[in-house]
Amino acid sequence: MKIFLDTANIDEIREAADIGVIEGVTTNPSLIAKEGRDFKATVKEICEIVHGPVSAEVIALDWEGMVAEGKELAAINEYIVVKVPFTKDGIKATSMLAAEGIDVNVTLVFSPNQALLAAKAGAAFISPFAGRLDDIGHDGIEIVSQCQDVVLNYDYEAEIIAASIRHTEHVRRCAEVGIDVATIPFKVLMQMMKHPLTDIGIDKFLEDWNKANQ
Ligand code: E4P
Repeated sequence: MKIFLDTANIDEIREAADIGVIEGVTTNPSLIAKEGRDFKATVKEICEIVHGPVSAEVIALDWEGMVAEGKELAAINEYIVVKVPFTKDGIKATSMLAAEGIDVNVTLVFSPNQALLAAKAGAAFISPFAGRLDDIGHDGIEIVSQCQDVVLNYDYEAEIIAASIRHTEHVRRCAEVGIDVATIPFKVLMQMMKHPLTDIGIDKFLEDWNKANQ
């Protein structure tokens, strides 16, 4: 499973990239706003650090605006993936951008039928939101998995990105069912590194080593 980092924070991206376990980054307007920096400069800097797919989201809601913004974003760097919300206009914009060879990540996907339509439109990535589905009483990862089954049944090109990941159990379940990509917050990535028995084990090894006067 590929791991993308779900953040627009440059320090977090640099640290995760240095560790060597992330293959891309997803941003959204909320994450960009949180950093308080220029949008295009931020995603350009992220591309220079990560050298993998970096999702940058359009703000327009009409397809003409989405296509125009998408082309501007794609021109920033070869790694930019244009993120487009799942709406009728979003799907039309996806078809048009994909026809021009621009990679699109269709976001705010909450059902397998939406995933099917995004795949048909030529999306490179499709992002069902696990956490927000959990919030309304669904099993988010189960729906992410259904979205991936739909795409795999027909050999569409799209990769499924499990988004809105809230905790390590989400990540484990994604990996267990073979989701293509999980985009995870930095905090969750750090939690995945930790296990108390690893820390206890290291302390014990060092204690024994020192006792033996090595
Ligand atoms: C990523 O593509 C999504 O925008 C992000 O995972 C949404 O996460 P949230 O539901 O925690 O805001």
